[in-house]
Amino acid sequence: MGARADRVVPFYAMEVLKAANRRQTEGHDVLHLELGEPGGGPPPRAVAAAAAALERGERLGYTEALGTHALRERVARHYRETYGVAVGPERIAVTTGSSAGFLLGFLAAFADGARIGVAEPGYPAYRNIIASLGLTPVGIATEFDRRFQLTPEMLDAALPLDGLVIASPANPTGTMLSGGEIAAIARWSAAHGVRLVSDEVYHGITFGTPAVTALASSPQAIVVNSFSKYYAMTGWRVGWMVVPPDLIGAVDRLSQNLYISAPTLSQIAAIAAFDDRAFLDAKVARYARTRGLLLESLPRAGFDRLAPADGAFYIFADVGKLTDDSSAFCERMLRETGVATTPGIDFDPNRGKRFLRFAIAGPGEQMLAAAERLVAWRR
Ligand SMILES: Cc1ncc(COP(=O)(O)O)c(C=O)c1O
Repeated sequence: MGARADRVVPFYAMEVLKAANRRQTEGHDVLHLELGEPGGGPPPRAVAAAAAALERGERLGYTEALGTHALRERVARHYRETYGVAVGPERIAVTTGSSAGFLLGFLAAFADGARIGVAEPGYPAYRNIIASLGLTPVGIATEFDRRFQLTPEMLDAALPLDGLVIASPANPTGTMLSGGEIAAIARWSAAHGVRLVSDEVYHGITFGTPAVTALASSPQAIVVNSFSKYYAMTGWRVGWMVVPPDLIGAVDRLSQNLYISAPTLSQIAAIAAFDDRAFLDAKVARYARTRGLLLESLPRAGFDRLAPADGAFYIFADVGKLTDDSSAFCERMLRETGVATTPGIDFDPNRGKRFLRFAIAGPGEQMLAAAERLVAWRR
């Protein structure tokens, strides 16, 4: 049997980034629409809180494995205020980004070989983490005209399952599930003994109705969230989970052994990030402007089959009319226009060649320039 790492495939997006950076060092002008990183820096209040802690000479030792009481309390308050959902701080686990949350959640909840459903297209780390843990990712094909989201009928066809990952807003499509749809999936999961894992890292970045937490309909769900996206603190490596009571002990033990604790300075900063709403909502307003602009101009560049980008900062395009190999298409687009995007194979091993993803969180003027270049290119 090979090493577990052999089950993990690299992100193609990182290859695109390398190619884009290479072009840049060769003196070409490159517009980056390949990586999902929020632009414009972290919330100033978070930075100020971190700076003050350093200034005070705080020791910054380990924290408890589940995080500081202050941050866990603050996250619990966030659920009351944002969603009207009561969760006690004892159910909150602070993690090193949501990436660690998935690892801890899957390890805590599932036995060896468990079958975990993941939507295709979807964020590739789900299936890579699942496979690396000796669990079995079960890809479930979703459809353009169902917003690339899962339905109970699709789930019936994927049985048997032990677990299921949902994401709303999702990466790479930006599409969302309504509260009713999440409740239907929660009911289906409860009826089939399937543990629901809800990726809520793009909550806060929505362009119509606000996102609904799975906790509203499923107290047994593992909810994973992060300071990386709405809070724009990717490199601070801090996130959180809401863990059902039967799993919190396991998550605590695993965290103690795998990481000890999330970065202390980042936990201090994260508390303050919650109070920088105006700064963060201005970012969302910028994403909304860019999204509007691209949804209007991409069809003029021939990208006329776009998933409804309800939230997050992605536009997922069906390019089946333009190419039968989106990787080659993305390479040519980078070469001929300097616009870097991600081909769909990262997100959907089966049908990815038909799709590509535009990540639109970068500076507004760069996104505008990308749209103009693509329109001129396809003319
Ligand atoms: C859907 C989704 N979930 C989770 C993550 C992981 O983010 P982090 O570990 O920084 O919280 C990402 C990052 O791109 C993502 O797109």
